[in-house]
Amino acid sequence: MNITVLGTGIVGQIIAAKLAGLGHAVTIGTRDVEKTLAKNTKDGMGNPPFSEWYNQNKNKSKIKLAAYADAAPSAELLFNCTSGQASVDAIKALGNTSKGKILIDVANPLDFSKGFPPSLSVVNTDSLGEVIQRTFPDIKVVKTLNTMTCFIMVNPAIVPGDHDVFVSGNDEGAKTKAKEILQSFGWTNSNIIDLGDITTARGTEQLLPIWVRLMKSMNTPMFNFKIVKA
Ligand SMILES: NC(=O)c1ccc[n+]([C@@H]2O[C@H](COP(=O)([O-])OP(=O)(O)OC[C@H]3O[C@@H](n4cnc5c(N)ncnc54)[C@H](OP(=O)(O)O)[C@@H]3O)[C@@H](O)[C@H]2O)c1
Repeated sequence: MNITVLGTGIVGQIIAAKLAGLGHAVTIGTRDVEKTLAKNTKDGMGNPPFSEWYNQNKNKSKIKLAAYADAAPSAELLFNCTSGQASVDAIKALGNTSKGKILIDVANPLDFSKGFPPSLSVVNTDSLGEVIQRTFPDIKVVKTLNTMTCFIMVNPAIVPGDHDVFVSGNDEGAKTKAKEILQSFGWTNSNIIDLGDITTARGTEQLLPIWVRLMKSMNTPMFNFKIVKA
């Protein structure tokens, strides 16, 4: 498939590399190609600049980089891997090229303005997934994968045993497609929990306050949630 990944951060890189490895034609969307390639500082988590990763990956995986407006005309599927605070602006910048498409939204509305731990900028009676769905009614939003580090998103076997990924969205066909992508990443059907419509993204986004505290107390992001039924 032709897939456009919005976002040049670590999540965009990891998802893009996985998709390309699975044989998809991947374009990464950014605000300004030249500026993104010129950045030479590490991100807030100490990950190397995008250009370093891109130079290592672009030839072997044929991953393209394009400004948002040029990134999605031929895309069959979109991934939102942008900062939650900026996701609406990023999708807006796609213009009409997003119309009718499935958007797998892995972003979280994290607000770091008061430092760590972050708070949620959309919460309780709303979620970023719903904000995106409301703002772009022509897009089929599927919220998933946002409750774990990106390394586990594309390689669930990093965590031994059974553990789960959640799915929220209004369009059944879009959720079926998203589940196929999840399975191609290594998720088994029994570990994909379909929570229902996009309002259920409130639940998964609101797992983030406990997720960041678990990361701090265990000193690692390499864990996931496992739901155990009686
Ligand atoms: N880190 C994880 O493992 C993890 C796990 C689960 C969910 N998430 C979520 O995944 C998303 C991506 O995380 P990340 O750490 O890779 O990257 P990030 O630093 O949160 O976001 C980087 C991306 O956001 C874009 N962006 C920032 N401001 C923008 C604006 N005003 N308009 C348009 N685009 C803008 C940047 O565009 P440019 O390319 O132009 O700079 C860049 O592509 C976040 O929502 C995060 O909460 C992360």
